[in-house]
Amino acid sequence: MKNILILSASPRKNGNSDILCHQFMKGAEDAGNQVELISLYDKNIGFCRACYVCFKTGKCVLKDDMAEILDKIQAADVLVVATPTYFLTMNGKLKNTIDRFLPKWQNLGGHDVYIIITGHDCREGLKLAGDELTTIFSYLGNEIKGVIWGERVWQKGEVTSTKAMDEAYQAGVNA
Ligand SMILES: Cc1cc2nc3c(=O)[nH]c(=O)nc-3n(C[C@H](O)[C@H](O)[C@H](O)COP(=O)(O)O)c2cc1C
Repeated sequence: MKNILILSASPRKNGNSDILCHQFMKGAEDAGNQVELISLYDKNIGFCRACYVCFKTGKCVLKDDMAEILDKIQAADVLVVATPTYFLTMNGKLKNTIDRFLPKWQNLGGHDVYIIITGHDCREGLKLAGDELTTIFSYLGNEIKGVIWGERVWQKGEVTSTKAMDEAYQAGVNA
């Protein structure tokens, strides 16, 4: 049994990213794993202030939900990161969350990572977001096990009629 953490960055509950996260979750649970899904918009995550106090203390000066999220990332065997594409890249909530990795950035490796990207564009239009997240999480010392592309989806729920549904479920089963 693996401990799987899903970080979902979309503000839209039951939106396309959220739906693919639940598909992954269902597959992973059906395979006997323990899964937690965190919707980042439900969390209070301030902006990094670049004070670098964390370089001395190992802790962020901001007292918000990020410390708990970092603990959960470290405890996870498998990490799933999902974002809608906003202006060709990950959305701001996810980028802000990643900036807040700073206190522990050298100790966030060793995970299997899956990336979920959604957007109204075709694969080429979502590529930058996928490439950036692949680069960032590889740089942190993780292995990218798969990218699930929810392409050509815009309105909430459109993803349900695409092959990304099965891909997300299967990725969860195989995680
Ligand atoms: C501010 C904003 C910018 C967007 N920019 C893009 C974009 O550059 N490329 C794209 O394919 N879709 C873009 N979209 C569409 C969303 O990525 C798409 O609707 C996606 O399915 C939303 O995911 P969600 O349902 O999980 O919220 C944008 C949406 C918003 C709100």
